Parts: sequence; structure tokens; C-alpha cells
Amino acid sequence: MSDISGEESGAAGGISGRGADTQDSRFAASMAYFERAAKVIPGGIYGSKSPGFLVPGHFPYYLSRARGSRIYDADGNEFIDYLCGYGSQIVGYGNPAVDGPALEQARKGDLLNQPHPVMVELAERLVGLVNDMDWAVFVKNGTDATTLATSIARADTRKQVIISAEGAYHGAANWCSTNVFPVFMQAEQRDVRFFPYNDIQALEALFAANRGNIACIILTPYHHPTYKPQQLPTPEFLTAVERLCRAESAYFIMDDIRANFRLDVHGSHTFFGAHPDLITMGKALANGYPISVLLGTDGLRKTASSFFITGTYWMSAVPMIAAMATLDEMERMGGTAQLARHGRMLKDGLESLGREAGFRARVSGPLAIPYMTFDEDPDLYLNQRFCAAMADRGVFMHPHHNWFISLAHTEEDIARTLEAARSAFEELRLFSSSERF
Ligand SMILES: Cc1ncc(COP(=O)(O)O)c(C=O)c1O
Repeated sequence: MSDISGEESGAAGGISGRGADTQDSRFAASMAYFERAAKVIPGGIYGSKSPGFLVPGHFPYYLSRARGSRIYDADGNEFIDYLCGYGSQIVGYGNPAVDGPALEQARKGDLLNQPHPVMVELAERLVGLVNDMDWAVFVKNGTDATTLATSIARADTRKQVIISAEGAYHGAANWCSTNVFPVFMQAEQRDVRFFPYNDIQALEALFAANRGNIACIILTPYHHPTYKPQQLPTPEFLTAVERLCRAESAYFIMDDIRANFRLDVHGSHTFFGAHPDLITMGKALANGYPISVLLGTDGLRKTASSFFITGTYWMSAVPMIAAMATLDEMERMGGTAQLARHGRMLKDGLESLGREAGFRARVSGPLAIPYMTFDEDPDLYLNQRFCAAMADRGVFMHPHHNWFISLAHTEEDIARTLEAARSAFEELRLFSSSERF
């Protein structure tokens, strides 16, 4: 068990349950901030954090602080959190083993003219840790890394076409965003081609139709489309990807931003037995401090060296120090085995509680990065009701986005979550057997 989680448990928003009629007062501060925001920020809160992505009245809009596995909203409500800052937390919010060295560096100086020596140490460490990779360049967001990866592949091959899986998320840039205005689809996405994940025949057909023009295929280590169950790759699929890339002299990019080190400390490609040429990592790399990385093989070193890779904040030292400390802390806290063990408890518990209540609830994806959907619920309505009921009981599970387990989640957290789920499923059962459904 972690020594930093749960220390503030038992405060507001606990497992005892709250009725929907109390929601407004429960989130009064959140609502007041949102009203002010609507006047000065387009949309009030933008992107995937906007209230439209959650269930109104059951989730807070603003969070003030966090510790271990817990988040606290602007009204002081406490939640056991399974979104983990969209996956960026792996060793727990506010972990002193990471924040200590990071804050010490912040006091000494963060963004200097030239990189801090820790940049060399971090690159050496990642190249040593992530199998098959020979070099590393640091950027800020995951989108920076995936954009750079595809650009390097295009420049090296002097070819344009990027192959991507339908519904995959590789960032919010115009070349890859699934949510852009048509004008960008005609321009930046003109040379991006899509196929259904794990479908070897469709992929072969796409490679055949674009022969001689394909620069790269970009894939996440497993498929995590928004709103849908997650899919693991079949071994035949990954073998086919590598065979097709070799024949076309195209590069295989593994976008490991979301899973990062949650599946395997040597990278998710090791977990699934894949051999990419470029790997992007981010999110939990520095436990929430802003840094992502593009790792590559020797064959692409020359092209990468010829790129003008820069951003004002990209050399900032604090996230690099935090990344080193996060890797140390991950090892100390039990690493991937603990995540998988707790993920197994959560998956088995939720599926069996769902069955007991008469639902076909299915937890898909890797154990450390689960997502629950209901087979009888293609439009996610039940999912929204379930996650709202969980939020009412002090557990933050996103209805449309996969969940994350961190090393700060304890067995007690999972047990409390399942206790909440038992009564949330019961509420759902009563609701779906009522006339309103
Ligand atoms: C697989 C994957 N790639 C890229 C990104 C983009 O990362 P960022 O939001 O840091 O730009 C994400 C973010 O969710 C992601 O999950």
C-alpha cells in the first residue's frame, strides 16, 4: 500500500450516497465559477474538459487540489479518482518523492537559455529503459510528439500518406484531430487514411491502394476509441503491420502516450511484442509535470537531427527532474505488477456486481487502464447513469473516457469503489426497470 494515498479520506463526498436533488448545492462553487467563465473563456471550459462530456449535476467543473488517489473540487467534495489527470498521474497526486526534487529545481531555476544537464541523464535513462530505442527528444504535449513523429517519417521517406486506425486519438492538431472543421479535413487530413483496428484485410487493401506513397502507420499499443470498448491487438495484426511496413519501406510509429509505463516499464510495445521505429510517450512520464518524448531508432537519427525541433518551454528543467523522480518512484512503489493486480480486482468486482444486478457490464482494455461499458447500451446512456451514480458516491469515473489506475490506489480504495458500485448498480437496476427508461 502506498504511504501517500487516502490520508484525507472520509471527508465530504464519501461513499454514503447523495440524492440527485442535493447536487446543485453540492456544486455551488463550481457552478458559480462556470457562470463567470462563460463570460471570459470561449465555451466556459473548452475541449474534453467541458461539462458536455460529463453528466450535468453529478460532476464538479473545477478541482482545487489532490493528494494520492483523491481529488477535491472547488466546493471541497472529495472523490476517489480514476481519471488520474487524464492518465498523467501514475505515482499519485502530490507525491513528495516527485514534487520534492521538482520544487527544489524550481527554486534554483527552471527555464534557462540552455538545457539543464538532467536532459542528458533523462535521455540516457529512457534510451536504456525503452526497448529498441536509440535516441530521445523532449517536447511538451503528446500532440507535439505525434506530430513530430509523423513529420520525421514523412521527411525521411519523402512520402506523404499516414495510415491510422479509425477512431484512434493521436492529439488535437489538425492532421489528426477527430473533431475538426471540414476545411482541415480537406487540407491537413487529405493524406491520412483510416482502417478498422485489427482488420488485417482492410489494412492490406489500404497499403495496396496507396503503394509507393505511405510514409508511416501510427497506432496506439491497443485501441482506445472514445465512447467504445477498448480492443487489444491480435498478435497476427501486429505481425501484419510490421510486414506491410517493411514491404512499403514505411515507418511504424507506436503512440504510447496514454499507456506510457502502465503496462510495461520497457514500453507497451514490449508488452505486446511489437517492434516500432518511433515511439511517443507522455502523460505519466513526469507524474503530471508537462513533458512528452519522441524516441526513435538509429535509422531515423540523421533525419531527426536535421529537424528544427524547438519550443520556448521545451527545455524546462523541472519536468525533466520530475520525470527522473517518477521513474524512481514507480520502481519503489511496485510498478506495473501492482497496477495490474488492482486492475484485476476492479474489473472482476465490477463485472460480477453488474451481473448480480442483471447487467452485461464489461470492463475492456488492459487491467491498469480499464473502461467499463454495458453490452446492452450502445449509446452509453446506462454508462452515464452509472458514472453519475458513482460520482454521487464519491468516485470519479468518466462515462466516455477510459479510466486509469495509479500506484496510489490502495486495495482499500478499490474495495470502497466496489462498495459504491454495488449500490450504484442497484440504483441503475431500479432506474432501468422503471417507466422512465
Ligand atoms: C494516444 C494519445 N496520443 C496523443 C495524445 C495527445 O496528447 P496531449 O493531449 O498531451 O497533446 C493523447 C492524449 O490523450 C493520447 O491519448
